[in-house]
Amino acid sequence: MNTIDYLRISLIDRCNFRCNYCMPEGTELDYILHQDLLTFEELMILLKQVLIPVGFTRFRLTGGEPLLRPGIVDLVRGITALPETQDLALTTNAFLLANLAEDLYAAGLRRINISLDSLHPGTFNQIIGNRGRDRWQQVWGGIQVAHAVGFDPLKLNVVVIPGVNDHEILDLAALTLERCWHIRFIEFMPIGNGELFDHQGWIPSEELREKIRARWGLIEANVKGNGPADVFQIPGAQGTLGFISQMSECFCDRCNRMRLSADGWLRPCLLNEEGQINLKMALRQGVPTEMLRHWVQDLINLKPEINFKQRESGTLTGKYGRTMSQIGG
Ligand code: GTP
Ligand code: 5AD
Ligand code: SF4
Repeated sequence: MNTIDYLRISLIDRCNFRCNYCMPEGTELDYILHQDLLTFEELMILLKQVLIPVGFTRFRLTGGEPLLRPGIVDLVRGITALPETQDLALTTNAFLLANLAEDLYAAGLRRINISLDSLHPGTFNQIIGNRGRDRWQQVWGGIQVAHAVGFDPLKLNVVVIPGVNDHEILDLAALTLERCWHIRFIEFMPIGNGELFDHQGWIPSEELREKIRARWGLIEANVKGNGPADVFQIPGAQGTLGFISQMSECFCDRCNRMRLSADGWLRPCLLNEEGQINLKMALRQGVPTEMLRHWVQDLINLKPEINFKQRESGTLTGKYGRTMSQIGG
């Protein structure tokens, strides 16, 4: 059985972008009310008294867009100060990163994954829902600042959508030639915008690797991370290329993670909520943390079965009713 020691903590379900593969135009999402968010005080209690004691030591802050949550720098300081924390990372769209990168680094954060689906401001704008012309520049600026501040590894996530950004694969891969950045190509999943998925489909990672191999060659490589990426490198390049292939190759049997939603649900699987526990409600109702530890331990023990069921039911080929921003990236 895999060790379940990686917790993805969603801080907020809101986002300042509306990526069309995530939240199609016109989608009305029911956002979590402020009073229903797990507070940072509650989160720290849960980490110290429940989640770390049952074995979680590696954490990632996600959203929606986690930089929208006020107080994130203090939270990072709090989590990195815990002696049991072995790794803390952040997944962001980088729109607000330029101003926050230095403080986040000073607070102890070292790893950031940034979504960057296109190198062209026009295409980027189209993907994120036409939110003004300067958004790409601001994100690109945020990436430069994060690099200058010293975040390492710095990973850029590209969801590859046929007919939208697949013609940019080689340009994106080329970023790794001179820069120590890590570009990760993610197979488009039927989560969020099912219509776009039905219409455009997805491209298997191996097809992308073939393209890159034909241009430069490709060798196996490594980069620090806790996720499902298969990592390669163009020979002689500074950075690496990761492939996250949840459609062509199910990696559920090496799953090492659970998710804590912004309103306190501990979820065993990205696509299967069976057995989920609302830790915030339990805490607010005064359930002793010792009891919560037992509940969480029971869920950890059940997880292989839950993963297996998800696999059997083929959820990744069907549709899932929530967006990534609601599930927590
Ligand atoms: P590292 O620790 O840097 O390896 O992070 P990561 O790859 O786990 O994190 P990131 O937030 O950058 O996630 C990248 C992509 O991996 C997501 O957009 C998803 O497509 C995919 N992913 C992450 N977790 C899961 C999961 O539990 N199940 C599935 N199917 N896909 C996941
Ligand atoms: N398929 C694959 N990846 C997705 N993301 C959001 N929606 C999808 C989807 N349908 C990615 C974002 C970000 C990460 C947190 O999730 O691009 O990199
Ligand atoms: Fe885009 Fe992430 Fe925001 Fe969804 S949560 S709209 S993927 S930036």
